[in-house]
Amino acid sequence: MDARQMKINAAQAALGHVEDGMRLGIGTGSTAEEFVRLLAEKVAGGLRVEGVPTSERTARLCVELGVPLKSLDELPELDLTIDGADEVDGQLCLIKGGGGALLREKIVASASARMLVIADESKLVETLGAFALPIEVNPFGQASTRIAIEKTASRLGLTGELKLRQSGDGIFTTDGGHYIFDASFGRIPDAEALSRELNAIPGVVEHGLFINMAALAIIAGPAGARTLQA
Ligand code: A5P
Repeated sequence: MDARQMKINAAQAALGHVEDGMRLGIGTGSTAEEFVRLLAEKVAGGLRVEGVPTSERTARLCVELGVPLKSLDELPELDLTIDGADEVDGQLCLIKGGGGALLREKIVASASARMLVIADESKLVETLGAFALPIEVNPFGQASTRIAIEKTASRLGLTGELKLRQSGDGIFTTDGGHYIFDASFGRIPDAEALSRELNAIPGVVEHGLFINMAALAIIAGPAGARTLQA
């Protein structure tokens, strides 16, 4: 079974958690897009939901496929967010932001009563960190913020390269107008401490560590999809 089919299977299983009338946070990335496609079929069949997208990219797909959208200001409290992840550990702590949408993803997940992660089994890890951690920063003073991140990481025993994310000929810019450093720290033994310390750096807008946010994860492998609970 290829990775795409596993993503579809995870998305299909997630659909079972969606009830009529729900206010849904809708994630970003290739797995979340499979979910949007399946959700759109259900909506066409009469399911009533209202979605808040976590990126402009997801919003475009929802509009194209006829999934009704609202802004988070119109629907400030959500029932359920369904989103992908770049890494998931056994406690359902996540690395997200490979697609650059981590800030809106975190705001939308925080506004939701529950967050459900969908992923193929390649995303499941024992310890977070093999995937470079996306850290979203304000463009103002990004060189100073980089130094502050490096010093903070080093205090926690973490070293590694910080790469300013590029897109085409220029610097990648998030939907919020910020930059992203992809930090190759390697294994992150204390993700909670790193999360706290990164949040204390003024130029850091947000980072891709999602700690104690996901309630459930549906992980799909060749033998089927299984549900993990936090
Ligand atoms: C988007 O910013 C990310 O957080 C995605 O949720 C994550 O990168 C997973 O994407 P895929 O489903 O494409 O692997």
